[in-house]
Amino acid sequence: MTKKLTIAIDGPAGSGKSSVARLVAQKLGYVYLDSGAMYRAVALNALQNGGFALSSESELEALARDSRIELRPVPLSLQDPCIHNRVLLDGVDVTQSIRTNEVAQAASRVATVAGVRKILVAEQQRAGAGGGVVMEGRDIGTVVFPNADLKIFLEATPEARAERRWKEHLEKGEHLKLEQVLDEVHTRDKRDTERRVSPLVRAADAVLVDNTAMDEEETARLIVLLARDREAKLGKDTGVVA
Ligand code: DC
Repeated sequence: MTKKLTIAIDGPAGSGKSSVARLVAQKLGYVYLDSGAMYRAVALNALQNGGFALSSESELEALARDSRIELRPVPLSLQDPCIHNRVLLDGVDVTQSIRTNEVAQAASRVATVAGVRKILVAEQQRAGAGGGVVMEGRDIGTVVFPNADLKIFLEATPEARAERRWKEHLEKGEHLKLEQVLDEVHTRDKRDTERRVSPLVRAADAVLVDNTAMDEEETARLIVLLARDREAKLGKDTGVVA
């Protein structure tokens, strides 16, 4: 039997983390977990309760503690590029409602609160405890699973990431200016990398994968090769035969 790995994939907005992580999990037969969905679920909870908690760190922390968030796999037959995990908040399916722009904005506020992060990180660690998981986010290789078997830091130039986002909007019928999307990419990069708590940084032992010139399938295949190599090495170390 091969050892099942814990794989951490981090990177900036538009680096293709979600699609790539989901493909890698599919190819390896692992569970895919989207940690950002948890921050979005807390944000949605705050908004549904009038949004007042968004201006109070202690209320956001209490809300995070009281929210029951479950991430479930999406059946392969129902794969939609915009849906990552099926997300339940206190038993209610919020998979679609956490994907609005309003929730994304609120989630980026929620994600700056240290107390919220502590609670969600503990849940993420529980969810991935058994191995055989691909978890993606901003702090997976640095904070959530600092001992992950394989850490990937996905990168692409801001221009390439902006173009991907611009195309996604276009496919949804939203005609935006490419320069505007590029500006937003720069703003999000700055917020993600400069925030005080758990900023987006590459773990020293993460493999840097620049996928500016690669599509999702090629990026996923490369990560699967790295994972197979790591599985084989760990199998040898532990005496487990692949
Ligand atoms: O990846 P996403 O857009 O769904 O993430 C939503 C927000 O949560 C975004 O502002 C980044 C933040 N986030 C985080 O701080 N740490 C994570 N591990 C995942 C997401």
